[in-house]
Amino acid sequence: MTKIYGLIFGSGWAGFGRDDSGSEVETAFGLPSGPVYRMCFGDVGVFCLARHGDAHTIPPHLVNYRANVLALKKAGAEAIIGLNTVGVVSGLCKPGDLAVPSQLIDYTWGRQHTIYDSRRGNVIHIDFTSPFSEALCKDLLAAATGVGVACHDGGVYAVTQGPRLETAAEIDRLERDGADFVGMTLMPEAAIAREAGLEYACLAIVVNEAAGRGDRPIHAAVDANTAAARNATMSTLEAFFAAV
Ligand code: HPA
Repeated sequence: MTKIYGLIFGSGWAGFGRDDSGSEVETAFGLPSGPVYRMCFGDVGVFCLARHGDAHTIPPHLVNYRANVLALKKAGAEAIIGLNTVGVVSGLCKPGDLAVPSQLIDYTWGRQHTIYDSRRGNVIHIDFTSPFSEALCKDLLAAATGVGVACHDGGVYAVTQGPRLETAAEIDRLERDGADFVGMTLMPEAAIAREAGLEYACLAIVVNEAAGRGDRPIHAAVDANTAAARNATMSTLEAFFAAV
């Protein structure tokens, strides 16, 4: 294996498959959402972190994204895969599928969004034209395809503030803006990873039609699709780590 990987798990994954009890990793921006623990995929150990904390108590706008990314870096990670559950805005794919987005639009506000947050340091303006590592995206897609998982190549992830879900009119607006997926947790995580010099890609887990798009309540869709999407995600990750 050429790189050391970190995984940030989102909703519904806290504590999943851990192989040790984890360790508290203090960073310049405080403590991350929970312990950094190891999870083995075959014989590959990966540093993992539950984005919303072990008991899923931290809402998207209160996650300490800076500490999460820096804790994984401190543990040794060189590349991070973010698992993010999303709703699908456009007709690009369906609930139960996975996607590896190629772009994002950030609608969040008031989050601690940069590690360059001092009046005394250098001002660094990262190039964020392409927010994700192309190589990592390619490898994730190849892994999903190889195990027969439906995984959409590309698309635009709109990041909303939450924790409430969107109105139907807000989703219409996101679609006019060019969004294909909507979720609450990709930013500022992806930008902070770039600032920290880490590769980053998002494996989006599509669990519902976005507000106003489906013919059933959003929570019913999430409940109906989560288990299958979770299996697809695990198969994809196993194939990914077997190949890298
Ligand atoms: N909107 C925002 N975040 C989400 C959604 C959604 O429809 N589904 C999963 N995370």
